[in-house]
Amino acid sequence: MVSPGAILAVVGVTVRFGGVCALEGVSLGVGPREVVGIVGPNGAGKTTLFNVICGFVRPAAGHIEHAGRPIRPVPHRLASLGIARTIQAVGLWKGLTVVENVMTGARHGGPWNAGRRGWHAERVLTNKALELLSQLDLSAYANHLPATLPYGLQKRVALARALASEPSLLLLDEPASGLSQAEVDDLAQRLGILGKQMAVLMVEHRVDLVMSVSDRVVVLDFGQVIASGSPEQVRSDPKVIAAYLGTGSAGQ
Ligand SMILES: Nc1ncnc2c1ncn2[C@@H]1O[C@H](COP(=O)(O)OP(=O)(O)OP(=O)(O)O)[C@@H](O)[C@H]1O
Ligand SMILES: [Mg+2]
Repeated sequence: MVSPGAILAVVGVTVRFGGVCALEGVSLGVGPREVVGIVGPNGAGKTTLFNVICGFVRPAAGHIEHAGRPIRPVPHRLASLGIARTIQAVGLWKGLTVVENVMTGARHGGPWNAGRRGWHAERVLTNKALELLSQLDLSAYANHLPATLPYGLQKRVALARALASEPSLLLLDEPASGLSQAEVDDLAQRLGILGKQMAVLMVEHRVDLVMSVSDRVVVLDFGQVIASGSPEQVRSDPKVIAAYLGTGSAGQ
């Protein structure tokens, strides 16, 4: 079901790869300042759903709506809609420092650089990027190259870069993959704060993280939504337990 007033809605999306039906009639919505987590077993269609929202994959049926209007997503135009994303593979620019990487996330013509040119624009951008780094406890690494940082910090820099476009919707593709438990706990805290400022749609394998930070959880199985609701509702849904969590492992 897609709630009215959603910033982003996936409406009846079906995707087929040859004989494989990766998604079948999937609908879901994300409201303003709502954190929605998408979980499901391997091959359930999570990444495919993310790719449809970002415009990497075109659905055979259904569509995406932004603020109630149908859109045809194009990856490099998402920022102009107020949508930012992080990718699973981090994807930072190797030759740029941490602060420069964050600066590349700022939207052209966005609030950081609208109407400014030359050195003034550069200074405003730098200061804003430094401010973001400070908010994410990354100031000490501003002038480091990403490859010199531990993986967990690189992922946090990628998050800072996504936030540089001042999104109203943040899409996170497996933000916890490759992180230690301490780093996952740190991420959970940060998502708790971000979720009060913007909408977040997160595809994630770590059920513990999803259950702890999401307002709503959507469970995919074999390309279909089998459950959707609060973490408590989803945790106790017999279909979810049978298909995914397994008896007694709902909090794992
Ligand atoms: N480009 C592709 N070509 C063919 N089949 C694909 C392609 N991408 C995904 N699939 C298939 O579609 C189904 C859904 O895959 P998807 O990667 O979306 O699942 P997932 O939920 O992200 O899984 P995982 O948890 O393992 O990352 C799987 O059966 C997968 O093999
Ligand atoms: Mg995947």
